[in-house]
Amino acid sequence: MNRILIKNGHIVDPGSGKDGVLDILVEDGKIREVNRNLKVENARVIDCTGKYVFPGFIDMHTHLREPGEEYKEDISTGSNAALHGGFTTVLAMPNTKPPIDSRGLVEFVIRRSKEEKKSEVFPVGAITKGREGRELAEIGDMREGGAIAFSDDGDWVKNSSIMRRALEYSKIFHTVIISHAEDPDLSRLGVANESALSYKLGLRGKPKESEYIAIFRDIALSRLTGGRLHIAHVSTKESAQLIKMAKEEGLPVTAEVTPHHLIFTEENLEIFDPVYKVNPPLRKNEDREFLIEALKEGVIDVIATDHAPHASFEKEDEFLAAPFGMIWLDFAFSALYTFLIQKNKLDLKTVIQSLTTGPSKILGLDDRGSLEKGKRADIVIFDPEKDIEITRNFLKSKAKNTPLFGNKLKGKVIITIKEGEVFEW
Ligand code: DOR
Repeated sequence: MNRILIKNGHIVDPGSGKDGVLDILVEDGKIREVNRNLKVENARVIDCTGKYVFPGFIDMHTHLREPGEEYKEDISTGSNAALHGGFTTVLAMPNTKPPIDSRGLVEFVIRRSKEEKKSEVFPVGAITKGREGRELAEIGDMREGGAIAFSDDGDWVKNSSIMRRALEYSKIFHTVIISHAEDPDLSRLGVANESALSYKLGLRGKPKESEYIAIFRDIALSRLTGGRLHIAHVSTKESAQLIKMAKEEGLPVTAEVTPHHLIFTEENLEIFDPVYKVNPPLRKNEDREFLIEALKEGVIDVIATDHAPHASFEKEDEFLAAPFGMIWLDFAFSALYTFLIQKNKLDLKTVIQSLTTGPSKILGLDDRGSLEKGKRADIVIFDPEKDIEITRNFLKSKAKNTPLFGNKLKGKVIITIKEGEVFEW
């Protein structure tokens, strides 16, 4: 029997409500017991005095670029970067080349994840064939093949009739439809938040209304169908207010926010560095502050990274030509710890909840997300006293498109345990 005893760590597990110094016994990949002063024979003992112990993180929004764009990232490097950052489960978005819009491709991603044995990768299937927005993809078939959720991420499903069908299917196949909420007619060609600053900088803007209108329509369709709707990367105050109203009405709507929309603002664009170019764009400080409050209130359920790796030659192109996105998997939690928790903007419990039970509930992943007895032994050990430096050497990701490159962050994931397997960093 494979036994691990995690001793004297400060456990923060919103799922079970545990918050204090406790021991965890892991047996054959599962949590066997969580209690004070556990004593067992024949166990590998990991002393966690002065360290935090969390459930393995779940990132419900990543781009791993396989198949088709392996020069940016692949399932091997992406799932290793995830594990390095404490993410034991990740969802891979289907805007690959070709898009993941068939059962064969869904099964390919699952097979590749099993071969790699790193963070467990669940494919998100495309809502429409080729992600072209014209014809519904084989949602039932992909679901049977293991697709966990469905999204045309990168694009909104503009056709309301198709989105209506997708939401109806979400009920039949017990899944969730993730909306990249952006009305392209309003935002096309935009590269920044539309504001006085974007005019000053001469950058074409994406108005907040392109997100608001898309979310409004999607909520209306969730109301019509009763279908499970999840709003990806919410970036504005008004969007969060809309989601709050939908939740108060009792609609089956959930939402996520990215670390970049919690940490950065449009003012970061003043230096014209495309590393800050993301979609949706960085908004104003008042939006950022509102999103933090929405997370605290439970209006936003999840922090999801939108890890978007790109090659240096692409991201270091001029602002208009560079692609959208930044990477996060290797260091998201250290960044959240440094910029939000240490600065008392967010409490540790809210952040851990949004990375664990938040996503596990939405995705129906009942076997993980908490350190309760019987769950998968997916565990993060975090040393708040160690620093990390974001260098090429540190990153397991193939990409380095992050504004934090070269920076130091407070706190380090020192061990990730996935189903009882220990990875030391
Ligand atoms: O910043 C982004 N990057 N937003 C998206 O919606 C897509 C993503 C990507 O695939 O690079």
